[in-house]
Amino acid sequence: MPIADFSLKGKIAVITGASRGIGEAVARGMAEYGATVVLAARNMPGLEPVAQAINDSGGHALAVACHTGKPDHIAALFERVRTEFGRIDVLVNNAATNPYFGPVIDAPESVFDKTFEVNVKGYFLMSQHAARMMVAQGAGSIINIASIAGVSPSPLQGVYAMTKAAVISMTKAFAKELGGACVRCNAICPGLTETKFARVLIDTPEIYQIFLRDLPMGRHAQPSEMVGAVVYLASDASSYTTGTVIACDGGRLI
Ligand SMILES: NC(=O)c1ccc[n+]([C@@H]2O[C@H](COP(=O)([O-])OP(=O)(O)OC[C@H]3O[C@@H](n4cnc5c(N)ncnc54)[C@H](OP(=O)(O)O)[C@@H]3O)[C@@H](O)[C@H]2O)c1
Repeated sequence: MPIADFSLKGKIAVITGASRGIGEAVARGMAEYGATVVLAARNMPGLEPVAQAINDSGGHALAVACHTGKPDHIAALFERVRTEFGRIDVLVNNAATNPYFGPVIDAPESVFDKTFEVNVKGYFLMSQHAARMMVAQGAGSIINIASIAGVSPSPLQGVYAMTKAAVISMTKAFAKELGGACVRCNAICPGLTETKFARVLIDTPEIYQIFLRDLPMGRHAQPSEMVGAVVYLASDASSYTTGTVIACDGGRLI
């Protein structure tokens, strides 16, 4: 057995937003490290090819439709996990929304509600369900995909930034309360990463140039560059790490 054990063999992991982007990369990466992965997103047609590819390459994946803005969907997802596997070792809260790009003073109330419903309440309810099972098991790891925007709000993304700051706070709150039960909770702050979510920021030269300014590594990320941090936090290699926030951001937050 190596001193640092990054293996996820035998672990049951739930990943939200796993049909594309960072969630898909994380799901594929965790499966490669041996986890059985439960892939969640709203649309099954997006999830099925990811699950199929993982299963075809010798991994174990199950796709479950779940809108993380809907508490009944979340409850049904955990009921399915309980029935199929009887446990959960890792939760990756990754599915998020950013429906508005503009000044905070003009942000409609509906945008505020929708963004908080999915990005904060969704992460919170998912974490509660997972944590209850993990506490009963006496072990578990919750990983929240936050954002550099949660530390330093990006221009014209104020509401989204507020939700990501809440995710960072939620991470620490769960870590403090659950440490004694051997349930760890950590966050990752990706920088700009090439996904559907960020496409418009990368494809709009005026915005992209602002993003590149003062960025030590001088480029945006690929989704695969988030996987190592997630595998670390999911595995026993991080057994004494909780409440931390890892920035995978090319140095943006320095
Ligand atoms: N890309 C970046 O530059 C960047 C930077 C910092 C942080 N992040 C964070 O990284 C995470 C993933 O972003 P991404 O860029 O990979 O996004 P993405 O490529 O747009 O993928 C989003 C995923 O989430 C699912 N999803 C969206 N809303 C959902 C909901 N209400 N319930 C369940 N699933 C939902 C989508 O599938 P369905 O549409 O089928 O539901 C899809 O699988 C987010 O938390 C985001 O805030 C991204």
